[in-house]
Amino acid sequence: MDKSVFYFGVDYYPEQWPENRWSEDARLMKEAGFNIVRLAEFAWSRLEPKEGLFDFDWLDHVLEVLHEQGIVAVLGTPTASPPPWLMSQHPELFRVRDDGLQVSFGNRREYCPNHPLYHQYSRRIVSVMAEHFNSYPSVIGWQIDNEFGERCYCPVCVARFQEWLQNRYGTLEKLNTCWGTVFWSHVYTDWTEVPVPLTTGGAPNPGLGLDFRRFVSDSYLAYQQMQVDILRKTCPKHFVTHNFMGFGYEGLNYYDLARTLDIVSWDNYPLGFWQKDLTVVDPSVLALSHDAMRGLKQQNFWIMEQQAGPSGWETVSPNPHPGELRLWAYQSIAHGADGVVFFRWRTARFGTEQYWHGLLDHNGQLSRRYNEIKGMGAELCKIGDSILGTSVKAQVAIIQSYDSRFAFQVQPNHHHFHYSDHITHLYQTLFRKNITVDVVAPETDLSGYKMVIAPALHILTESIASGLANYVREGGTLVVTPRTGVKDDSNAVVNQSLPGLLAEVCGVTVAECDSLIAGTSQSIRFNVPGLNNLDPLEARIWVDILAPAGAEVLAHYTDDYYAGRPAVTLNKHGKGQAIYVGTFGGTALYQALFGWLVERLTITSVSTALEGVEVAERWQGNRRLMFFLNHTTVAQTISLPAGYVNILEKKTLGRQVTMAPYDVIILSVHE
Ligand code: GLA
Ligand code: ZN
Repeated sequence: MDKSVFYFGVDYYPEQWPENRWSEDARLMKEAGFNIVRLAEFAWSRLEPKEGLFDFDWLDHVLEVLHEQGIVAVLGTPTASPPPWLMSQHPELFRVRDDGLQVSFGNRREYCPNHPLYHQYSRRIVSVMAEHFNSYPSVIGWQIDNEFGERCYCPVCVARFQEWLQNRYGTLEKLNTCWGTVFWSHVYTDWTEVPVPLTTGGAPNPGLGLDFRRFVSDSYLAYQQMQVDILRKTCPKHFVTHNFMGFGYEGLNYYDLARTLDIVSWDNYPLGFWQKDLTVVDPSVLALSHDAMRGLKQQNFWIMEQQAGPSGWETVSPNPHPGELRLWAYQSIAHGADGVVFFRWRTARFGTEQYWHGLLDHNGQLSRRYNEIKGMGAELCKIGDSILGTSVKAQVAIIQSYDSRFAFQVQPNHHHFHYSDHITHLYQTLFRKNITVDVVAPETDLSGYKMVIAPALHILTESIASGLANYVREGGTLVVTPRTGVKDDSNAVVNQSLPGLLAEVCGVTVAECDSLIAGTSQSIRFNVPGLNNLDPLEARIWVDILAPAGAEVLAHYTDDYYAGRPAVTLNKHGKGQAIYVGTFGGTALYQALFGWLVERLTITSVSTALEGVEVAERWQGNRRLMFFLNHTTVAQTISLPAGYVNILEKKTLGRQVTMAPYDVIILSVHE
């Protein structure tokens, strides 16, 4: 990868179009300012049309045609879509679902990630491709497979899971103790008795449920590593990535998968149209995904699939408004993308994704979308250099734990509690204040942050707890919320008062809790200066009645049998402090609390702007780029420090600037 190039491009499926169109496509790509394409990631049946028979001529030719226009390529390994000749010959490779049924051919991702035979076939196609393209001048990197996911419950996975458990626990006695299998007479006497949690087995032991999810994650990790090893050995000059699915996906431990990759990339579809009731695009949800994906390696990332038009498989999403595609792409950059690749070039005429629109229409004609992105390409030609080398700097971190996500999948604790929604809610409160946030793993070095929020950190190990305690002792401010520290590493409830391993740092224990009836709420009132003038604030879903053991009470409940009992506490610990928020707030509660904390901790917001205008920053030394993103359908007038230059237009701006709907301004500022 050339660090001096801002990569801007498109996902291209030349195998779906006649060869005599390719040079026209390449010419139009170049005109759009594209310098990279992703190719081949679903092309197994064209690359190996028959077992052991490889045909790369067409791909060589495409690469050549593109290279003539100065366009380089990321190649996808094609293993997400195994060809029919393979699957019909080896039906045992089909994944088994959690209801025990085996999937059949017709979609993609049909394979078992643990099957040795699938590894063997994958190893071969990846090795042959790597050897062939290693020296190809315009190939710069690889994307492994496509959007890993899907659990498999086949006999191979059952046996592998039992081995995985042996590695983890060593002895059956240990497993039986950690899972508490004495409950309901599940004591295992042989490893082969341990099941996988099929839905036919009903609600699983929580230890089994969590460990199986960890095992599935490790299975994809091993499958990915098999490909990484081949590519590293054969193509040492190429980078290796995988395309992740953002914050919304919670099937795999993305921190683990990201660790051995060079860069993280992810697929950003603001208008994915998977839900029937999609109405508006919420920019904070997109921003959270960017920040979570940046947090996987704590470094800049790429968008490998950036929305290029209306989306949809069986149905068609609303058409992005003029300016929206460009706005979303600049938002990606504002949050740390160093490469943006649109999905896809030309809209497919056939196949499941006929309605997932590319930049070109079905008929190959240029669309309004193409012209919009071409405009962005011209802008990036001018400003790409000033973006490269900059990165996002945050004073606040939110901890996201995949172990906790897995545990809440097994036991959500409340019908209306969703771990990811809770994180989103807290994140949104800061987003609305234009405060930059890193979303990081629980084991991250937190020393650089002024405030760390650990929402519902359900699975809490000794090492994570001591990291958090250290952070506080050294002067940090930690905010925790209900259901923190409830479970040990095997998903058993701790043998301590809650919040378990964080009780001392928080200077508080949970005396009792109350899981609220759906649709009902309680309220709390703050009693500290700056907050005690507020009306009672809504408390939802869950109530922890707190028993301070050294902590100061910031707020108490106002209703029911716990009226007057502590709801929010603050404990000074070492040089820092820990705040326990004993309930899930409505937005007003978080706005009040975070507003108060942000002021006390002098956390700086990027800029205050109007609702709907996002402001984000990237830094290099004391130079920074400020991105103003108007996510609204109307013109917005913003106030700026005087004399700044909008680098997109090389124009000096006055103090008042009116931004068109969906428009973007980027200021370059030297402190
Ligand atoms: C995902 C995949 C793409 C494509 C799009 C649209 O993000 O990676 O291959 O299927 O969704 O459905
Ligand atoms: Zn399997």
